[in-house]
Amino acid sequence: MKKETGTEPHPRSKLLAVLGGKAEAIPPVWLMRQAGRYLPEYRALRARAGSFLDLCFNPELASEATLQPVRRFDLDAAILFSDILVVPHALGQRLSFTEGEGPRLDPVMNAAGLDALRGRNVREALAPIFETVARTRAALDPSKALIGFAGAPWTVATYMLAGSPLGDPASLRAHYYDDPAFIDGLIDILVEATIDYLVAQVDAGADALQLFDTWAGGLTPALTEKLSVIPMERIAAAVKKTRPGTPVIFFPKGVGAALARYVESGACEGVGIDYTQDPLWARKHLSPRAAVQGGLDPLLVVRGGPAMEEAAGAILRAFRGVPYIFNLGHGLVPETPPENVARLVEFVRSGSWRTADA
Ligand code: CP3
Repeated sequence: MKKETGTEPHPRSKLLAVLGGKAEAIPPVWLMRQAGRYLPEYRALRARAGSFLDLCFNPELASEATLQPVRRFDLDAAILFSDILVVPHALGQRLSFTEGEGPRLDPVMNAAGLDALRGRNVREALAPIFETVARTRAALDPSKALIGFAGAPWTVATYMLAGSPLGDPASLRAHYYDDPAFIDGLIDILVEATIDYLVAQVDAGADALQLFDTWAGGLTPALTEKLSVIPMERIAAAVKKTRPGTPVIFFPKGVGAALARYVESGACEGVGIDYTQDPLWARKHLSPRAAVQGGLDPLLVVRGGPAMEEAAGAILRAFRGVPYIFNLGHGLVPETPPENVARLVEFVRSGSWRTADA
């Protein structure tokens, strides 16, 4: 187990300092989906690996994919190169990624399907990913944080139930009303598997963890609580009980003002805002309890120029004097010109945004 020396954030890591409650004059910066197809060096690596899953399970190449954007843009953090769907894969569900279509899984249909997922050793199945974490941590400058991650149970469950990216979320609400015990059973399996998975990432060298709940939006308040907030809290609390001092960032996308609920429990040190959230609202309602991360619309990074800088500047100014991590409101898209990313990082670091008319 690492971190025998205590639970203090690495003194030289800005990202960990912010997650520990420090406000930095120039916030640390990393970007969701900072590794990926918009980078020519990623496309070359991906071609060498064969399939996307082969890349995720090859520690040497996955570690290289993790480091590529950090090297190119000098970001403050690396995020493990992997995918949220390796957990259902480790639970025995068949998974493939097809070019242009995204993930495909054999849907979990019934109680027998649930039973087939029980009793799997997630740590054993995901061992190559922990090796990627260890290799990456060893190669990464100590001033840079390594972020481990997992999908939140609800988002992972949506893919496991539908077998593909969600067309119509209403069908899943209907599914819940028809058979709550089945969905609750699936969520429980995922909570347990995700705890094991994240604790093993911390043991391998992850400095902080992010839980992605991409499909948390569009639920009723009661279902948001039951299917998104509570499972995320259960995971974060269990990880921190087992590995004290591990900072956790929650990113439930599309939940609007319910985002305040996620930080109220005190289960997360950081909370991600998607591009629909008002930064001033977030500062008022979230900053008192957690570091805020993100906000910039990734489509503005496709465009670049003054529109991108204006929007980034407004967000940066909204969080002056409170713990904030610069990031996007969702992941970079494949059409993003890498030079715009370089310019964005330069803009954040320049501090020229501090005055509105800069
Ligand atoms: O750089 C990083 O952010 C780290 C790597 C990472 C990937 N996926 C790599 C990836 C992370 C953190 C994820 C999370 C993820 N995966 C989420 C949550 C965040 C979000 O974007 O909402 C979700 C919902 C998934 C599931 C998933 N994986 C989908 C729907 C797709 C297909 C869409 C697409 O972009 O192709 C993937 C594939 C995927 N995951 C790719 C990458 C780089 C593209 C695969 C390729 O190279 O062909």
